[in-house]
Amino acid sequence: MLKVENLHVSVENKEILRGVDLSVEPGEFHVIMGPNGSGKSTLALTIAGHPRYTVTGGRILFEGDEIHELGPDDRAKRGIFLAFQVPPEVGGVKIIEFLQQVLVELRGMDPVKAYDLIVEKAKELWFREEDLHRYINVGFSGGERKRLELLQALLVEPKLLILDEPDSGVDVDSLSVISRKIEELHRKGTAVLLITHYGRILGHLDPSTFRVHVMRSGKIVMNRGGEFVKEIEEKGFQAIFEECGCDE
Ligand SMILES: Nc1ncnc2c1ncn2[C@@H]1O[C@H](COP(=O)(O)OP(=O)(O)OP(=O)(O)O)[C@@H](O)[C@H]1O
Ligand SMILES: [Mg+2]
Repeated sequence: MLKVENLHVSVENKEILRGVDLSVEPGEFHVIMGPNGSGKSTLALTIAGHPRYTVTGGRILFEGDEIHELGPDDRAKRGIFLAFQVPPEVGGVKIIEFLQQVLVELRGMDPVKAYDLIVEKAKELWFREEDLHRYINVGFSGGERKRLELLQALLVEPKLLILDEPDSGVDVDSLSVISRKIEELHRKGTAVLLITHYGRILGHLDPSTFRVHVMRSGKIVMNRGGEFVKEIEEKGFQAIFEECGCDE
C-alpha cells in the first residue's frame, strides 16, 4: 500500500533523509524508532505532504500511485492520516465544526449524525461535549492534544495512520486509552506506522504482529521483529549500532 523507495529529502538545502526504503501493506503494523534527530518526523511529515520538505530523490507510492506531487489534502483524501508529534493550534476553528465538516466531506455523513458520532467518540477519549466547542488545540495541554489527534483518527478511520510519538508527554492513564484506540483502529484494518521511543505504547500488542525499523542519520539501518523493541530499551541505540556495525 505504501512504498517508500530510496527517499531523499531536504529542508532548506540540508539533506535530512538519505535513502529511506520502507514498505507497508494494508493492515500491517510498523514501528519506527531511532535517536533524536535521526529523521523520523521528517519521514512522517514528508509522507503526509508537508510543503517544507523537498523530495530530492526516490519515490513515495501509495496504492501504486506516486504521491509526492500531491498536496497534503489530497493525500488525506486518499486515506493517509498523520498525528503530529507537536499538534499545532488552529485558532478560530472549532473542533466540532472541523470534525463535522471532515465527516460530511470524507464520509458523506449527515451533519446531525456526524455531530452525535463525534460526541460519542470524544467521550471514549475523555472529552466533554463543551470541550468540542473550543478552538483546535488552543489552550489544550500536551496530553489533551495527543488524545485529540486520536479522536480525529478514530473518526476518519484512515487506510494508513502515521503516529509521531503519540506517547510523548502523556500520563499513564492517557497512554492506556491512546494505545487501546490505536489497537482498535488496527483491528478494524487500518495500517499503522508508529514512531516512538518507548515500547510501552505497544500495550498488549503481540510482538510477532509488528516490525521494528531503526533510523540512524536519515536512513533505516535495521529492520527486525517486534521483540527487538525490548532489546533497544535495554541496550540503547549506541550499543545496538556498534553491535550491528551499522555505519553512518
Ligand atoms: N525545518 C528544519 N530546518 C532545519 N533543520 C531541520 C528542519 N526540520 C528538521 N531538521 C533537522 O533534521 C534532523 C531530523 O529531524 P527530525 O525532526 O526528523 O528528527 P526525529 O528523528 O523526529 O527526532 P526526535 O526523536 O527528537 O523527534 C534534525 O537534525 C533536525 O534539526
Ligand atoms: Mg520527531
